[in-house]
Amino acid sequence: MKFTQDQLKEISLLIKRISGFVIEEKKYHQMGLKVLKRMKIVNAKTPVDYIHLLKLVNHSDEDSEISLLTASILNHHTSFFRDLDQFICMEHYCLPEIKMHYSILDYTNIRIWSAACSTGEEPYSISVILNSSLKPPWTFHLKASDIDQPSLNFAKKGLYDARIAKSIPAKYLNEYFEKIHGGYKVKPALKKNISFDILNLVENNSIEQMKHFDIIFCNNVLFYFDELTQNEIIIKLCSALRPGGFIFFNGQASIASKSKLCMQKFGSALVYQKDYSSCSIKFPPVQWDPSFLNDFPQKTSSDFINKTDRSISVYIFS
Ligand SMILES: C[S@@+](CC[C@H](N)C(=O)[O-])C[C@H]1O[C@@H](n2cnc3c(N)ncnc32)[C@H](O)[C@@H]1O
Repeated sequence: MKFTQDQLKEISLLIKRISGFVIEEKKYHQMGLKVLKRMKIVNAKTPVDYIHLLKLVNHSDEDSEISLLTASILNHHTSFFRDLDQFICMEHYCLPEIKMHYSILDYTNIRIWSAACSTGEEPYSISVILNSSLKPPWTFHLKASDIDQPSLNFAKKGLYDARIAKSIPAKYLNEYFEKIHGGYKVKPALKKNISFDILNLVENNSIEQMKHFDIIFCNNVLFYFDELTQNEIIIKLCSALRPGGFIFFNGQASIASKSKLCMQKFGSALVYQKDYSSCSIKFPPVQWDPSFLNDFPQKTSSDFINKTDRSISVYIFS
């Protein structure tokens, strides 16, 4: 079955409208193959019938055809401790600063959000670090979200194949994962502070309700969007952060937002921090103690020490 260029463009625009995902013309062929697969499943006879079906139902409904087609096209690739330097930076740089400021406020609950968490490897990696480094009275809540319900269902089950043992340090694997036939199961301790919820980053209502996070991870998703959409999402993520909160982005997304974000480089990780100007409380400046780098196990991040740039660059966009 042949699609016209206009039909492929129309389908790609419908996908962009629901997910923000931009499909370049050179990828129309690949998209066409996924469309054909879905057409067979829903028994659509012609591209015109299928496009009609795509437009038929409310696109926020996760069982609608446009949602199912979009889910089949999105890239869900992820892994445990994917960008290791981010986790090191969170543990040794972000958490001490957050704790110091929260001690002044007599507040002990840290809020983290893994936006676009796919099948759960990123939030479970964050939870490993938080469970091992936060001792009472410190507690945390981890919100994990994605646009794709099947990925979230997978994440909630917490069942992974045996290959994950290659990416998770043995001490964490033994403590937080139970060996089962053919793989590993996430132990309840790792799950108990995580809530998995569907959330579309390009849908204003859902993202605008997210507030007061201390750290946000928004990895490997922004570069699927056009620059305007990226900027809109970055601004909203900044609003979801409390003053002084941190955001990790990776991939090639340029942080060209209209927000004020202060950037620091830790090994390969870039961490952006929201400034305190919108905050009425005056916190004492935090002196970053780089001594942890001395006992840093080289094997976990070979060039972390050499590449760490402790100078602060301030990005101000207006
Ligand atoms: C490549 S995975 C990244 C997973 C994880 N953050 C990581 O870095 O390993 C991208 C995820 O973004 C999700 N995604 C794509 N568009 C989205 C949107 N508009 N809102 C929320 N999630 C979205 C996809 O469903 C997919 O699970």
